[in-house]
Amino acid sequence: MREQHTVSSTATTAVARRVHELCQRAGDLPFHGWHHVSFVRDKGARFAAANGADVSVVATAALVHDLNYLVRRNSPAAAGRTLRLDILAEAGVTADTARWVDEIVVEAEMATRHRHISLEAQALSDADTLFKALPVTPVMLAHRYLSENGVSLRELATKIVGEQRGVHDAGFYFYSREAAAAYSHWASANLELWQCVVEALDDPSVNELLAAI
Ligand SMILES: [Fe+2]
Repeated sequence: MREQHTVSSTATTAVARRVHELCQRAGDLPFHGWHHVSFVRDKGARFAAANGADVSVVATAALVHDLNYLVRRNSPAAAGRTLRLDILAEAGVTADTARWVDEIVVEAEMATRHRHISLEAQALSDADTLFKALPVTPVMLAHRYLSENGVSLRELATKIVGEQRGVHDAGFYFYSREAAAAYSHWASANLELWQCVVEALDDPSVNELLAAI
């Protein structure tokens, strides 16, 4: 029974300490660094408390959900699996629970998530998706994503529209009804902005402008 697999607060604290340490050692990732991880942990725990998911498991999954970016830039969540399982084991999380945490992280990934993922993955996804949809993210953080992952503005804009338009239009951009009610207009504005970026990049004058800065 998965319900029996929880993570002790001691283990969660040990995971947090280790992930924070790794972020600092890496010079903190510009986009997926500790500021992102701690935001997703805090919001994920709140979404978990609201939807009945295991709060300790969601908070732990949030702490290790983006370790792949420490392993390889511009990589999928699965690329962080070995490091993720090692950190969880060192913190005293049982092997069964660690595997479950890893499954949740992969389930919640934007590129592949679907309507019927687990409650834990829903809580993690909503927190991670909220970070993407924050109005401050394209203004203050998008350029950091480009430098962290070595991608062009066109690649990022195409990725965002390609991955997010479908889930948005299908009605599960957010799984939590409260999150959808509070943040859907941010998500719509964000997607509209990135669609406009894709269109703008078809204008040769815009490309000249970008090349000149
Ligand atoms: Fe994330």
